Amino acid sequence: MITIIKNGTIITAGDTIGADILIENGLISAIGKDFPEAGADEVIDASGMYIMPGGIDPHTHLDMPFGGTVSSDDFFTGHKAAAFGGTTCHIDFAIQQKGHSMIDAIKTWKKKAEGKAAIDYSFHVALTDPVESSVEEIPNLLTEGVSSLKIFMAYKGAFQVDDTTFMKAMKKSAAHGLTTMVHAENGDAIALLTEELLKAGNTAMGYHNVAHSAAIEAEATARAVSFVEITNAPLYIVHIACKDGLEAVRNGRRKGLPVMGETCVQYTYLTDQHIATADFEGAKYICSPPPKSKDDQIAVWEALRDNTVQTVATDHCPFWFDGTKEGRTPGKELGKESWAKVPNGVPGIEDRLPVMWHLGVNSGKISPNRFVEITSTNPAKIFGLYPQKGTISVGAHADLVIFDPEKEHTISAETHHMNVDYNCYEGMTVKGWPKQVMVRGKTLVKDGEWLGAQGYGEFIPRKSFNKIV
Ligand code: URP
Ligand code: ZN
Ligand code: ZN
Repeated sequence: MITIIKNGTIITAGDTIGADILIENGLISAIGKDFPEAGADEVIDASGMYIMPGGIDPHTHLDMPFGGTVSSDDFFTGHKAAAFGGTTCHIDFAIQQKGHSMIDAIKTWKKKAEGKAAIDYSFHVALTDPVESSVEEIPNLLTEGVSSLKIFMAYKGAFQVDDTTFMKAMKKSAAHGLTTMVHAENGDAIALLTEELLKAGNTAMGYHNVAHSAAIEAEATARAVSFVEITNAPLYIVHIACKDGLEAVRNGRRKGLPVMGETCVQYTYLTDQHIATADFEGAKYICSPPPKSKDDQIAVWEALRDNTVQTVATDHCPFWFDGTKEGRTPGKELGKESWAKVPNGVPGIEDRLPVMWHLGVNSGKISPNRFVEITSTNPAKIFGLYPQKGTISVGAHADLVIFDPEKEHTISAETHHMNVDYNCYEGMTVKGWPKQVMVRGKTLVKDGEWLGAQGYGEFIPRKSFNKIV
């Protein structure tokens, strides 16, 4: 299959150039001008369009058992939604079950995706059973194509592990070429505050932010950065949402420590006021760490600009607002009586690129090249997918978004493709929308029409060549 994309403007993390792209058998085979069209199966005229590498979402939770239920997007619905929003690859989390190995977890998650996947995917693994055998199996993860390991400092009694296990895992991972990742919130403090708040009858949604305050996130983030100094092992801190946490990462990087940071699209837009909305509405926005003050949001944008954080993910973990309807899994209504029982997580896999373009590029906060860097290139570099993915270069996968910078679209749960009954950006009219989306040369979405297929997406094994950026 030969495809030519002509007359577009190619945007990568490093360059903006007017050039045509030749695609042969799913790979970019040449970038230039005036390719002969005679033998081509398809010629796409991209006049007025930007051509960018497909988005890579480094943090998602599809079909994940959590909070007494399961996230509502599986590896087909989530992938279809991702493609409509311009994301062509993602890295999900295989979660270890206590008493089982991490290899078991990876096998379980691979099965969840098999036959359903429509875009390409890979896995991180989460170490949740703090026993010596878990640390010992870290080198074996590479044989399953997994080169990143996640630790939770929060979710006491479920996923949280102690600091000793955390540091041992960091050291073992570093010794074998794996990157450690961490959810940085102080789980002991959250558990204590939760108990006190509930005892005092403080069950309204806004109290989630009291139990998950900026101090709780910042303390854990600073502690995690100290562990980098102690172990000299690389660390990627996921979903950073507060100014003081970002400052801890900034200070660590200034010292030359191998620490990297991720933020999420929701922290560039939502604040604690969304969660404090009257009645139960605020449950829609409950996630951990939660969006915080306007000042914290400003700090998130600053961190995206000054490279304190290198990626913007979604932490896509959708739950129905009303999961009692037929065919739905239980959702946010599990927490009707108390914020502490609301399943934690928000949807966003479809919204990330258009919202970041609109809020970031259209406002002049970030350049189109930085947009590509934080949504695609850096995730690929950090997690060992580059240069196969994350850029437009000869030999790379033809994972491409043909993006119409003029097209306006109003985001709504009525029209989105995520398997969830609300959208965090409901009513936002964004300027800039994916016109055509390809994975390895195959068009999955064109002018709002789904042309993809279950089973097309491939598991992408990753080796131990992750990079510090
Ligand atoms: O609230 C969140 N973030 N849910 C997903 C699990 C996690 O902590 O990443
Ligand atoms: Zn987390
Ligand atoms: Zn997460």
